Amino acid sequence: MSTIVMTGGTSGFGAITAGRLARSKGVRLILGARRPAGGEQLPLDLAELASVRAFAASARERLGGTPVDALLLNAGMILPDVTRRTADGFETTFAVNHLAPYLLARLLLPVLADKAIIVLTTSGTHDPATGASLAPPRHADAELLAHPDRDPGLDHRPRRAGEHAYTAAKLCAVLTARSLAESGDRRLTAVAYDAGQVFGTGLAKDLPFPLRVAWSLLGSPVLRWPLGRLDPHLNSRAAAGNALADLALGLATPPDGHVYAALRRARLTWPQPSERARSDEPARALWEDSARLVRLRD
Ligand SMILES: NC(=O)c1ccc[n+]([C@@H]2O[C@H](COP(=O)([O-])OP(=O)(O)OC[C@H]3O[C@@H](n4cnc5c(N)ncnc54)[C@H](OP(=O)(O)O)[C@@H]3O)[C@@H](O)[C@H]2O)c1
Repeated sequence: MSTIVMTGGTSGFGAITAGRLARSKGVRLILGARRPAGGEQLPLDLAELASVRAFAASARERLGGTPVDALLLNAGMILPDVTRRTADGFETTFAVNHLAPYLLARLLLPVLADKAIIVLTTSGTHDPATGASLAPPRHADAELLAHPDRDPGLDHRPRRAGEHAYTAAKLCAVLTARSLAESGDRRLTAVAYDAGQVFGTGLAKDLPFPLRVAWSLLGSPVLRWPLGRLDPHLNSRAAAGNALADLALGLATPPDGHVYAALRRARLTWPQPSERARSDEPARALWEDSARLVRLRD
């Protein structure tokens, strides 16, 4: 029996992952969801740290001592600017994509099995070298990302600032995966998973109307096939969801020393993440600053 806890399994490619895991023999799946709907779904709103703590407590209670074999932190979102704040007063894109999953990982660490896997969904946009169209991360300073009004380098064009919040949070996912992998704690495996470009998911739902329409059209199977032949980053929801399920089930594992998994032409590859994601000091600072922001002791 394999026990898996997952966020972001209610739409997009995460729904494909959750569906496959739920159908897999010998797998017990506990899903955190804003609108729980049957099965083992428990309430979780990543925009509220109190909800994260409540979810961790109810998941632990539900498990009753059974260790967790895989923790999939897949939920994420992007906003058109950085004006929204969570219940805790943090910029919402950063809080939902980094602070809340960080807290959840920390709260569930004690119940992870020996050799468990933690997967944090990141994005190739964390790396300026990929030439992605989104504003690349300038830093992974948790304090400034939580309070962008204090960031002296804040781009005052709303959309660019919103993109930066997203790509910087995805850089934080890679740095956090590294910290977890390098902790040596119970021989954990940690992977930062970049699903490539997956059109047609719910990710664009808060973006302006023309972007939502383009996102949805580009996700249609008719366009995806020819585009996918031109661009190796482009993946279908099925490919992205199944690769995440493979990681959860141990059917795909990182080569020694690798934490970054990038899905290219529907195949998992293990390139190096961005230069900044490979630096030790930002990883250490992010771990400690995030702990302080979510009110953990270290
Ligand atoms: N699509 C891409 O091209 C792409 C590329 C690289 C990385 N990613 C990342 O992949 C992940 C999945 O994205 P997707 O494209 O499949 O988008 P999606 O369809 O919007 O899925 C996002 C998931 O996150 C959940 N979520 C969002 N905000 C939440 C909150 N406050 N509390 C709890 N759950 C929340 C959503 O739940 P609801 O059902 O309640 O909305 C949904 O299950 C994200 O982390 C995204 O950043 C996507």
